[in-house]
Amino acid sequence: MNASTSKRTGKFALMGIVVALALAGLALVGCAGQQQPSSQEQSSSGSQAASSASSSESSSAPASPAPIAQGNVLVAYFSASGNTEHVAQQIASDLGADTFAITPAKPYTSEDLNWNQEGSRVNIEHENESARDIELTQVTPDGWDGYDTVFIGYPIWWGIAAWPVDGFVSGNNFDGKMVIPFCTSTSSGLGQSADLLEQMANGGTWLEGMRFSGSASAADVSEWVNSLALS
Ligand SMILES: Cc1cc2nc3c(=O)[nH]c(=O)nc-3n(C[C@H](O)[C@H](O)[C@H](O)COP(=O)(O)O)c2cc1C
Repeated sequence: MNASTSKRTGKFALMGIVVALALAGLALVGCAGQQQPSSQEQSSSGSQAASSASSSESSSAPASPAPIAQGNVLVAYFSASGNTEHVAQQIASDLGADTFAITPAKPYTSEDLNWNQEGSRVNIEHENESARDIELTQVTPDGWDGYDTVFIGYPIWWGIAAWPVDGFVSGNNFDGKMVIPFCTSTSSGLGQSADLLEQMANGGTWLEGMRFSGSASAADVSEWVNSLALS
């Protein structure tokens, strides 16, 4: 091998090293690229964990609620003209539960409830949100801490929960309790009424609520109560 051959050979060797280094570099980039999916895996397993936590939460909620001992259920309700009270009593009777009437310190008379009358109490309160802070005779039911499940019943007023329940919902601690809203109305559905109450509540696991017509039968109510699979 002469000097020029050895120079060429040297050049080729140099090129070989350069190519090898380039390939090694590419391989490294490839490896780095491979690390991303594993970090994605981590985040996806993180979200899997989150979703399994939430699915275990939801599986302990409406689909298959844990059996609840009789005596630990409270049916709290506001009723201005008796319809919601009727449903509440049926729920309580089916479950052997206690009842608690959410009672405004100043009860609503039939004149108060007349929304066709300009200037009636409900119209004034409806038109002025700050007038909806209704004083109650009692905010926290006796033995509150002993209840695991609390039904909350109310009539629909202008598409939302009649506001006398607001003070009950915001004035009590629902931590560790299952909350089951229900309402009565002429034609409106539950709508956002229960979600709005949940937002103003202190904790609790809120199940999807149920709307009944003002003239719901005992059978209608019992069918729903049975579907909750409480015991
Ligand atoms: C002030 C007021 C507002 C009402 N607003 C609605 C409404 O928006 N939609 C509806 O379907 N019924 C409405 N109703 C009818 C009541 O929701 C219905 O009669 C309910 O069953 C009354 O329950 P209670 O007897 O327990 O008070 C309203 C009643 C009153 C007094």
